[in-house]
Amino acid sequence: MNKNFEKKLQDLKKENLFRQRVLKESGSSSKIIIDGKKYLSFASNDYLGMSNNYELQEALSESCKKNGLGSGSSPLISGYSESHKELECLISEFLGTQSTIIFSSGYQTNVGVIKSISEPTDHILIDKLDHASIVDGTLFSKAKFKRYSHNNISDLSKKVNESDKDIIVCVDSLFSMDGDFAKLNEIQKIKKNKDFYLLVDEAHALGVYGSGGRGLCNEMNIPMNEMVGITGTFGKSFGTFGAFFSGSQDVVNFVLQNSRSYIYSTSLPRPIIDATIKSINIVMKENWRREKLFELIEYFKKLVKQHGFNNLNSHSHVQPLVIGDERKCINLSESLYNDGIFIPAIRYPTVEKGQSRLRISLSSEHEKHHIDHLFKNLKF
Ligand SMILES: Cc1ncc(COP(=O)(O)O)c(C=O)c1O
Repeated sequence: MNKNFEKKLQDLKKENLFRQRVLKESGSSSKIIIDGKKYLSFASNDYLGMSNNYELQEALSESCKKNGLGSGSSPLISGYSESHKELECLISEFLGTQSTIIFSSGYQTNVGVIKSISEPTDHILIDKLDHASIVDGTLFSKAKFKRYSHNNISDLSKKVNESDKDIIVCVDSLFSMDGDFAKLNEIQKIKKNKDFYLLVDEAHALGVYGSGGRGLCNEMNIPMNEMVGITGTFGKSFGTFGAFFSGSQDVVNFVLQNSRSYIYSTSLPRPIIDATIKSINIVMKENWRREKLFELIEYFKKLVKQHGFNNLNSHSHVQPLVIGDERKCINLSESLYNDGIFIPAIRYPTVEKGQSRLRISLSSEHEKHHIDHLFKNLKF
């Protein structure tokens, strides 16, 4: 058998779709050092600058000295500690849910939760632009699934009404590549006519939106009941690593019994959990991070308008500058790199072909002069 990977790789290169990792020496949400050179970065999901926070580092190293590093096992064997339980309780309190379990990553959470809460007879409806982990969760499940047009409430409503099965709707609250918000209020209205299980992935919204960073469900007053679940990750605004699923006591217990990505994977190291607890407490209290980020978003949008760029009308800290053609997007990213600015070109399959873009992630670590510098160097 000849799988001919060499040809496949050549084809990817010809189509400008070959991906390469960048070897960084160090970096934060706004700066990155590559080959000894400092770059202004807009390529991190560390939206509140927590990944380099001194208090988190202290919490991590104290916990490491006390508890060691690895958890040594999956959570149902011996990998579930008092720190894990404390973080679960903190998340439930933070979101106003009954119960929470901590997964090792957001990808594992969505895959594990969707697979375990769905029956083969269910219908799963997902937004066309939902994250790959939601798509993969639905593919793993034995349920039939359909994708509704992006943020198109009448299409969702039509698909809900057409179905005579139990329905699960999965949606990102803030779409990671377009930067727009899910219409959670309108989804809630559809639920009132015909109820379904709503799973909201708050990966990019937690920490930034809602009271104290509680996310968009909180901001839009979505009632937390047995027909709503939330997933989120700690690797973005909270600056650490890991993820969670939160919802009613029963659904969380059920996921704990059934989710293979929970049961058959080593649980997170305790120092990471203790640093995450510290992070959530800081993020809840320190409104200045959100306020600064909101100011930067407004400033960025003003410059987008002045320069006539297409940001898909994003109002969030995720600002796409859509270029379209893959080669043009790579050229622009390379030209920015030569000017000391790091923003990788986002291409297919992360976005559709011909929809290549620079995905600008704003962080409270940025300053207005960083945004000025970026726009000065954007040469189309
Ligand atoms: C919307 C969304 N959900 C889930 C994930 C996965 O989270 P993690 O990086 O913790 O696996 C991501 C990561 O980029 C994401 O953007």
